[in-house]
Amino acid sequence: MQAIRIVGGAPLQGTVAVLGAKNAVLKHMVASLLAPGEHRIVNVPGIHDVALMGQVLRHVGAECERRDNELVIGVPDEPFPEAPLDLVRQMRASILVLGALLARTGTARVALPGGDDFGTRPIDLHLGGLEDMGATFDLVHGVLHASAPRGLHGAEVFLEFPSVGATENLLLAAVLADGETVISNAAREPELVDLAAYLQKMGAKIDGAGTSTIHVVGVDHLEPAGHRVVPDRLEAGTYAAAAAMTGGDVTITDCVPDHLRMELSKLADAGVSVEVGEGWCRIRGPERPAAVDFATLPYPGFHTDMHPQMVAFLSVADGTSIVTENVYASRFRYLGELNRMGADIHADGQHVVVRGVERLSGCEVDGCDIRAAAALTIAGLRADGETLVVGAGHVDRGYDGFVPKLAAMGADVSRVEV
Ligand code: UD1
Repeated sequence: MQAIRIVGGAPLQGTVAVLGAKNAVLKHMVASLLAPGEHRIVNVPGIHDVALMGQVLRHVGAECERRDNELVIGVPDEPFPEAPLDLVRQMRASILVLGALLARTGTARVALPGGDDFGTRPIDLHLGGLEDMGATFDLVHGVLHASAPRGLHGAEVFLEFPSVGATENLLLAAVLADGETVISNAAREPELVDLAAYLQKMGAKIDGAGTSTIHVVGVDHLEPAGHRVVPDRLEAGTYAAAAAMTGGDVTITDCVPDHLRMELSKLADAGVSVEVGEGWCRIRGPERPAAVDFATLPYPGFHTDMHPQMVAFLSVADGTSIVTENVYASRFRYLGELNRMGADIHADGQHVVVRGVERLSGCEVDGCDIRAAAALTIAGLRADGETLVVGAGHVDRGYDGFVPKLAAMGADVSRVEV
């Protein structure tokens, strides 16, 4: 197994560029299935989840090749409407093939999703909305058999929670459905807006992406298109937290600071100097952060996928921070690992009490998911001595070149076999 070995102490310095968003490109890959022909997607990170989604696309009969940061996808006239169990289990985003395959072929067989282990991650909102549009479902041995015998039709769907995945699944289904679909209480995430922009280039009629009400008028067919993926706000945010943690001075380029407004404002409240410009932000960390409270919420609230990195940063704050996790109630496995490093954190229900300590000390910890592994690495950058984050494979799911990029900013970090 691979681990990330960090010797703490060096302040990060310099410049780091971010690539396209994992949580956008995976959806674009699925969206390409809606139009036969050749699609070109650029600014694509070389991450494990993109490779996995490539395998899902190949299984349905598409060609998919990534050269440098460009992905060329060749979509067949008649995709095979099945997503295989072994792949879907590894990556939750594959549930989106449901909407796309139903829209294209009127049928789909999709194994129930996997992904990060944050407790139960239901898909009732996806299924409820698709049912409103005429789909029926049958669950056989963990595989969802979906069909829309008379095709999908437009519907008024009200989401109980602004789920990113459910909104995207419904959008993918609605663009080829018969008539108008209105998605109310829709997610407003920038990655979803980017998906809508790509679909619009393909000829989809979508209005209101980025607001709580999305209107879609179905069209007969879509054309292949080219698209540049929106920058990854989570990659940018992770490097911002890392720079802040080490009292460093880092300029993050190729990003959209506005997509990180809440996260950057919380860093600023903790005493970090944050300067932003067109496509960049400069982060200068304090010697010791001040405690701040924050609560995760759907966009434009504080992103749940930045919660572990922010808690790592606050673990050395001067004072006590209260964190409320509103999106994934059980996203706390990494806390015990931070405590192993000398942090003083405990969770009570969905709240986390972070009592800042003066020093962390390095040891072996388990990076149990993408953001947990990133957060523990950030903690290691400031800890005394050596930290070994086991489960380095998790960061490869979401970060292209995580270790080399940190090393280029002056961190003493490497990949080791354990
Ligand atoms: C996406 C992101 C993930 C991020 C999350 C929230 C991808 C690949 N993943 O995940 O990194 O953490 O958005 O910003 O883009 N829920 C239900 N029923 C449903 C669907 C969701 O109860 O049918 C609940 C979930 O359990 C969770 C909450 O809604 O508690 C948010 O989930 P959702 O917004 O759907 O997240 P994902 O799209 O899965």
